[in-house]
Amino acid sequence: MAESKQFVETYLREIGVQTPVSLFTSEQSASDQSASGQSNLRPEILVQQTDSKVHSPAADASAITSPAKQNFEVKADVPAVAKSVSGGLSDLAVKASTCRLCSLSQERNQVVFGVGNPDADLVFIGEAPGREEDLQGEPFVGRAGQLLDRMLAAMGMGRNEIYIMNTVKCRPPNNRDPKPDEVQACNLWFEQQLDMLRPKMICLLGRVAAQTVLKSDEPLGALRGRWYDYQGIPVWVTYHPAYLLRSPGQKQKSWQDLQALLSGFQKLN
Ligand code: URA
Repeated sequence: MAESKQFVETYLREIGVQTPVSLFTSEQSASDQSASGQSNLRPEILVQQTDSKVHSPAADASAITSPAKQNFEVKADVPAVAKSVSGGLSDLAVKASTCRLCSLSQERNQVVFGVGNPDADLVFIGEAPGREEDLQGEPFVGRAGQLLDRMLAAMGMGRNEIYIMNTVKCRPPNNRDPKPDEVQACNLWFEQQLDMLRPKMICLLGRVAAQTVLKSDEPLGALRGRWYDYQGIPVWVTYHPAYLLRSPGQKQKSWQDLQALLSGFQKLN
């Protein structure tokens, strides 16, 4: 608890906010957003007609706008590796661990499948494992992962309440962007994994994850601030923590994204 409070304070200091979290009430964030031209941060779902997998948002929109329900109960804290797999997801992780569907398998140390609570309502999706992740076999364990932890803590969440995965499960050499054929090959695991998780909400971290999942070539700046629909699941887009490490000036905007995500999440049943 004390550690979590410290995370929050550290993150808020990083993004230039010196006030306690309690000052970020919904009214305050709404006026902040409209003052900064971000009044479109509403839980409305944009239908992406280009993606055949995107379904009508009507049912989801009603879920999203239904009365607020707090959804942040802390679930059992079990070891990270055990948390990352269970039942069908466990079998899928085992099958994925020997995948040779693309050339990334030649240089990887291990397949980085996913981590967190398999029953989580909220899933965060990044791009692909980096060096640390490839060595440890767990997503977001390097510097970007530490920042992600602080971002989560600022939202009042911990890794035990959410699930974290990547669009591509093996590390691209020198952390280059995954190539289209690698993304396509890994889609086999990605789609089954999300199908088993069936979260209530998805947050895409960064341009590569956003463009991949939303099948878009728009820049991240254009993709932020709107709700999307992936197979009936509301999807939100925000900056990748690795980008925020390189561009700390964008952390304030990322905090606006996270508040909007949290607000949409709290309205879910
Ligand atoms: N960046 C990602 O997109 N995913 C990771 O797991 C680590 C860094």
